[in-house]
Amino acid sequence: MADFIPEDKILEIKNAADIVDVISGNVLLKKTGKNYIGLCPFHSEKTPSFTVSPQKQIFYCFGCAAGGNVFSFVMKRDGITFPEAVRMLSRQYGIVIPLQKMTDAQKKRHSEREELLAVNRQAMDFFCKMLPNPDSGKQAAAYLKKRGITKDTIIAFKIGYAPEGWNNAVKFFSKQNTPLGIVEKAGLIVERGNKNGFYDRFRNRIIFPIFNLNANVIGFGGRVMNDDMPKYLNSPETAIYNKSRSLYGLHLAKQKCREKETIYVAEGYFDLLAMHQNGINNSVATLGTALTSEHVQIIKGLVGKDGNVVLVFDSDNAGIQAALRSIGIFLNAGVNASVMVLPTGYDPDSYLLEFGKASFLNIAEKARTIMLFLMDALIDKYGLSVEGKIRVVSEMRDTLSSIEDRVARSLYIKELAERLGIEETAILEKVRNASFRADNGLPKTEKQRTFYGKLEKLEQQIIMMMLQFPTILSEIEGRNILNLFEDDRLKSIGQLILSHKDRLNTKLADLMDLVDDQDQRSIVAALAMADYKWDYAACLAVLTRFESLRKNDKKALIQKIKKAEESKDYELLAKLLNEKQKMAVLTEKKKMSLLK
Ligand code: UTP
Ligand code: MN
Repeated sequence: MADFIPEDKILEIKNAADIVDVISGNVLLKKTGKNYIGLCPFHSEKTPSFTVSPQKQIFYCFGCAAGGNVFSFVMKRDGITFPEAVRMLSRQYGIVIPLQKMTDAQKKRHSEREELLAVNRQAMDFFCKMLPNPDSGKQAAAYLKKRGITKDTIIAFKIGYAPEGWNNAVKFFSKQNTPLGIVEKAGLIVERGNKNGFYDRFRNRIIFPIFNLNANVIGFGGRVMNDDMPKYLNSPETAIYNKSRSLYGLHLAKQKCREKETIYVAEGYFDLLAMHQNGINNSVATLGTALTSEHVQIIKGLVGKDGNVVLVFDSDNAGIQAALRSIGIFLNAGVNASVMVLPTGYDPDSYLLEFGKASFLNIAEKARTIMLFLMDALIDKYGLSVEGKIRVVSEMRDTLSSIEDRVARSLYIKELAERLGIEETAILEKVRNASFRADNGLPKTEKQRTFYGKLEKLEQQIIMMMLQFPTILSEIEGRNILNLFEDDRLKSIGQLILSHKDRLNTKLADLMDLVDDQDQRSIVAALAMADYKWDYAACLAVLTRFESLRKNDKKALIQKIKKAEESKDYELLAKLLNEKQKMAVLTEKKKMSLLK
């Protein structure tokens, strides 16, 4: 059973791991006044808006609204969970987390995650034992050998075998007295119809455990040894396995990626194994999904902002499509990516088997940046006829207009113009039109913002004072101010602050650990970052104004409803009536709480 991290250890680690120290490992920080600022590692920017407060031990980016405490930073940087971040920092700062038996209450609270990890580990050990088994594993071992997988690779990647038959895993876990419900949740077994017991998900397949950054098993992939379908069967998504965050081989690649500031991203299990076996250890694989922005954040955390990402694709059209889809993600993350294309009919596995490492690296050297790759691919696809050129420009338009860096954008426009043999200005015009259209989406939200503007701002201000001036908390609680809140996120943050008011006092960084949702953590960081000089009287004035605005708001709303009726704007009318309904519910709630 996995251990649990005592709360005082979490505190100790948080006290030791100074946020400026930790973030300095990734971001060049400059002191300005009380805070430090630097270029945000989570989005691409030219002028620094990433702010770190050593006093409050929080960070906040005014550009992309990422924010939180030291744990949130590490979680976001490496794409890992809270306990994983705590452990990582504990190792970095030499704090030993004692193994501790859990009390019943702790056990209950202890997340399903840890149980799933334990079950997966047991399953991995089971599959690993089956492979060298002279009876059941013979064919599987032969298959791996035929595909050129060495013993060392089998051991390093803990490759195993799920034997033929419907209940090998079921029997194994029953014998261990592991509750089958949790084994099912891990995706290893499947419930039969009519709740009539369980059967094994993986049968007669080579098993590839999938690990997270900390080498915990989070899921499995299983390959058939013949032409049966599906070729690969993967674990379903679980509380610990999220396809869009997982990269096969990551735990073994991370060190080399950091050293070389370069990472190869391939597509398949065997591709990744072949690359490792050929000493190209700074490699991972995406396993049948397109690269996501979460993948890219993890990758960026490994190779750094200026590191290189080399996408290794089969020459087939699917690979090209994948590159096209991921281009926006790389642009947004501000990460350099290039694409290497293998000759038709080869994937990294088959190419390495046939031609070896040197030849592979030769192609890698010719990798083009993803933008140039995209241009060439489109020119190949549509050709250089007049119609072809028009198609190429129109398909490039959105991508080009989404490049925030003006210098980069104009260089790419120049490049495209040259390749197509047309005037730069013609492309420029198209790109400008596209940005103009993108801006036009705004007014609608702008309108909404003015309608609620005052209230939302006031609600923010109230949360801000709760965070920065805790003396006011009992007043807010006594007057049931949160019941008047419209913004659910702000309201739930307020409730969280109130429910921890005795413990928290002014420890903002501690509050972050209680907020599960990343958006909400960012809101807390944003509201905590500012420095106001609050005093009691000023706070009371804000609260009173908020209460009275709420009441007048009703009058104003009724006026608007009348107007909408007169002008027969039924769409607006429906919206306003909906508002009124919401308001009535709020008032009702408020009355109830007064009666209490
Ligand atoms: P490919 O179809 O390119 O297979 O799928 P491959 O990796 O070359 O496999 P081998 O060499 O025939 O063994 C690429 C990846 O897509 C995922 C797997 O992760 C695979 O490695 N995939 C493919 C699935 O998840 N399910 C499938 O049925 C097929
Ligand atoms: Mn293959």
